[in-house]
Amino acid sequence: MTASTLVTGGAGYIGAHTVRALRAADRPVVVLDTLELSTADAVLGADLVVGDIADEALVESVCRDHDVDTIVHFAAYKNVGESMAEPSKYFRNNVDGTVHLLDAAARAGVGQLVFSSSCSVYGTPDHVPVDESQRIAPESVYAETKAIVERVLHWYGVVHGLRSVSLRYFNAAGASFDSRIGEDWTYALNLIPVAIRALLTDGPPLQVFGTDYPTPDGTCVRDYIHVDDLAGAHIAAIDHLAGGGETTAVNVGTGVGSSVKQVLDGIEAVAGRPVPHELAPRRAGDPSSTYADTARAGTVLGWEPRYGLDEILDTAFRWHQQQYATTG
Ligand SMILES: NC(=O)c1ccc[n+]([C@@H]2O[C@H](COP(=O)([O-])OP(=O)(O)OC[C@H]3O[C@@H](n4cnc5c(N)ncnc54)[C@H](O)[C@@H]3O)[C@@H](O)[C@H]2O)c1
Repeated sequence: MTASTLVTGGAGYIGAHTVRALRAADRPVVVLDTLELSTADAVLGADLVVGDIADEALVESVCRDHDVDTIVHFAAYKNVGESMAEPSKYFRNNVDGTVHLLDAAARAGVGQLVFSSSCSVYGTPDHVPVDESQRIAPESVYAETKAIVERVLHWYGVVHGLRSVSLRYFNAAGASFDSRIGEDWTYALNLIPVAIRALLTDGPPLQVFGTDYPTPDGTCVRDYIHVDDLAGAHIAAIDHLAGGGETTAVNVGTGVGSSVKQVLDGIEAVAGRPVPHELAPRRAGDPSSTYADTARAGTVLGWEPRYGLDEILDTAFRWHQQQYATTG
């Protein structure tokens, strides 16, 4: 049997795009997802086991039954605000759940793992672009769970020989170019889906948090990375590990910062009408500007992004427009 990749959280936004990319590359895949924050149709017919990463017996049997040699680990909660209101929910699922997953994987002989980390592990960066040598200084419970799991992975490498790549994503955005899968705005709190929802529905206007930052137009600057580029970075990370590559952490961004105002202008250009929005005060804990130094992704993984903000906004808008027309 050809070895498979187990994708935890593979029915979620980034997971579904990665599952699709793996299958397009003829790599056998099995998805494990509770479907708490997603729906089964997002896996587009891939093998799906509905269950929890913390269920060690289930994880071990899935790994053995599918001859899993690599895990791509997306499953987690990701709402920063919620993590500050309910820290235990985040430590239990993101940290404790991962430890259960790793123990089961070790028993089943899985030797490689790609982890969904986040640029939020850097907190407010000392300087931009942010490279991987900057200090780890999480500013939320959510970010802390990512930093802790990176350390847990280091020690599972020392003790069990597990080799891993922690991909520190910047802001995942966009949808598939054929509009089959995208970021469901029922669950999403990120700028682009929320702005498009404000434009397409009678819902509340978008809140622009802070217009007095020390950035060219006063609004926050972020690095938006197309979800299909992110999917490609996972395949590059799997190949790094399959080639005997060492445990490492790598930024996954474009290296280009875009302001909230630039994003809104871009959505308005694609849609041909304004995004209803209100100017609001700064939000606590939002760094004014962060974008990636992507050199390491190129040298270590041989990966570089193909798309920019135009493709992100075009694919996101078309996806949301189609979803809204179908489901309201
Ligand atoms: N979206 C971003 O911009 C971004 C940025 C940095 C890091 N990340 C990380 O990337 C990963 C994927 O993000 P996403 O945007 O696709 O999120 P998502 O919420 O769309 O997907 C997460 C999936 O994991 C599942 N899940 C959660 N807990 C589970 C558990 N205990 N067992 C099994 N399945 C479980 C959910 O049902 C969901 O399908 C997360 O770990 C997130 O923290 C995302």
